[in-house]
Amino acid sequence: MEPWIAPSILAADFTRLGAEVNEVLAAGADIIHFDVMDNHYVPNLSIGPLVLKSLRKSGIDCGIDVHLMVKPVERLIVDFLDAGATIISVHPETTEHLHRTLNLIREGGAQPGVVFNPATPLALLAEVIELVDLVLIMSVNPGFGGQSFIESSIQKLNAAREMIDASARDIRLEVDGGIKTTNIGRVAAAGADTFVAGSAIFESDDYAQTIREMRAALTDATAT
Ligand code: DX5
Ligand code: ZN
Repeated sequence: MEPWIAPSILAADFTRLGAEVNEVLAAGADIIHFDVMDNHYVPNLSIGPLVLKSLRKSGIDCGIDVHLMVKPVERLIVDFLDAGATIISVHPETTEHLHRTLNLIREGGAQPGVVFNPATPLALLAEVIELVDLVLIMSVNPGFGGQSFIESSIQKLNAAREMIDASARDIRLEVDGGIKTTNIGRVAAAGADTFVAGSAIFESDDYAQTIREMRAALTDATAT
């Protein structure tokens, strides 16, 4: 699977969000990662479906990877389907019926993803692997950008990669939190193919240069 770089707009300049998205796409991003936080499931508040709707209305037609950190999650899924999400990922802790919730996303025309916090057991993946197009391993605790990568995520990525390969399904393995040009290669070697990066990209002076460096590290990692 071609590696994807997914800049998280949580770290973008919100006064010029549309321009930021267009700039990062022009700089080589594959999809946009859209973090939704509710000050309940996670201790922070971010953006909702109206913002996605505005981006779509402005003509942005790339893949939008919506990462829902909200509880309860069901109602907002409907709004994000309507707003034009491409992928919608949910944390098992935010829904009473994960199986039903993943089906709701699929039936609504988006690709379902399931997210694992650092302390969420990966064993749950076996129960829903037939229903998802994306597995997201959190390499920080959700809620904030700019945190440090948690090393144990490497083992979790390895384990998730094995489960995905054994399923023989077309599932992306995404990693989110603390991804930089300096560790993206190691993370790729552990099996990730989709890389969320917020501060590493949006706090750099040259988005294209940063994404180029990430791709070079990915090429080196997969060549060895
Ligand atoms: C954290 C979010 C991340 C965050 C990543 O809860 O899910 O997507 O924006 O930010 P960085 O790349 O700065 O760790
Ligand atoms: Zn995220």
